[in-house]
Amino acid sequence: MKAVIYNGPYDVSVKDVPDAKIVKPTDALIRVTTTNICGSDLHMYEGRTSFEQGRILGHENMGQVIEVGSGVERVKVGDYVCLPFNIGCGFCENCEKGLTGYCLTANPGTAGAAYGFAEMGPWEGGQAELLRVPFADFNCLTLPKDAVEKEDDYVMLSDIFPTGWHATELAGLRAGESVAIYGAGPVGLMAAHSALIKGAASVYVVDTHPDRLALAEKMGATAINAVGDEAVQKILDLTDGKGTDRGCECVGYQCCNKHGKEDNSATMNSLVASTKATGGIGAVGVFVPQDPGGSTDLAKEGKMPFDFGSFWFKGQTLRTGQANVKAYNRQLANLIHKGKANPAQIISQRLKLADAAEGYKHFDARDKDWTKVILKP
Ligand SMILES: NC(=O)c1ccc[n+]([C@@H]2O[C@H](COP(=O)([O-])OP(=O)(O)OC[C@H]3O[C@@H](n4cnc5c(N)ncnc54)[C@H](O)[C@@H]3O)[C@@H](O)[C@H]2O)c1
Ligand SMILES: [Zn+2]
Ligand SMILES: [Zn+2]
Repeated sequence: MKAVIYNGPYDVSVKDVPDAKIVKPTDALIRVTTTNICGSDLHMYEGRTSFEQGRILGHENMGQVIEVGSGVERVKVGDYVCLPFNIGCGFCENCEKGLTGYCLTANPGTAGAAYGFAEMGPWEGGQAELLRVPFADFNCLTLPKDAVEKEDDYVMLSDIFPTGWHATELAGLRAGESVAIYGAGPVGLMAAHSALIKGAASVYVVDTHPDRLALAEKMGATAINAVGDEAVQKILDLTDGKGTDRGCECVGYQCCNKHGKEDNSATMNSLVASTKATGGIGAVGVFVPQDPGGSTDLAKEGKMPFDFGSFWFKGQTLRTGQANVKAYNRQLANLIHKGKANPAQIISQRLKLADAAEGYKHFDARDKDWTKVILKP
């Protein structure tokens, strides 16, 4: 089969590799029909993780089931399924609680597994023609009859739509409240979409890319074209000096300060400053325990100069982490099915798998009008 291989920093290519196959009776084999490039892939693409050369990328996958193992009961050949990027077993202590982003079985020794992802277990990615899905009965979200017609919406259930939703959940957002979202990449835009669906009274989206901010405005959010202190001031001005009820971090450890230089504390400290006293902050952008490529000694150790004094003084709360996709994907699929959510609106490019390298290059450069790239194997 053809698959997108990580050759090293800034170097991916489509190569012929052995076909994915059923290994355990609980596996399913999927013919991948759509697979996305994610901002998380870019941390790996830029060589800023321990992702091993020669591995297959791709954790945002959907497709059609072409074979099931002898122990699979629910999922049937022919079903169209969307796969959460996190692989859960369904029976560990965390999966039992719905915390499938922290499965204790699928990546022994650590909490959390994913397809084609650094430090998330041996599972190959789905930027390929075929994908092996472990614990298939648990992981496959079987899609309704409009699976093919709304495929580009449903594939967003693999990660970014639930992740954006998760950001607003972690922040504690309720109808009628205000929220500031840092980052207008796919995750930030999905957080904005989620906040608007949930009935937020005001949604502010912070970034410096006009094309991405234009999408946020089209959704009904208010664009804040600034970063750092300037962004904070604009948000304070728009909220009578109080700040927003809630804030979402949708950028991650490679966030930049107003000079365009990496500063891993930039968004978190802005969030403390632009969120009101007693407000809630949800951080879904990825932060890592070790970052040898970090810009400071602290950053190299996964630490940051966090404005804890103001955070404490304001009595704010902070919740973080991987999205437990399965906790949300069924309900969000219903919103898509009934026409109440359309996450595909942020897709800018639909490319063939063969053109993946081109997709990585432009998306990584945050080139104008390269907001979300999906691949069609
Ligand atoms: N928690 C999860 O489960 C989960 C799932 C998917 C993605 N992620 C992470 O979410 C993050 C965002 O993903 P994405 O696909 O949207 O990535 P992206 O890189 O396309 O978007 C990030 C955006 O943040 C902007 N930005 C940079 N510095 C900023 C600042 N100081 N203030 C405001 N905006 C700033 C950039 O201009 C860019 O548009 C990544 O870290 C990704 O790994 C987490
Ligand atoms: Zn992703
Ligand atoms: Zn588990």
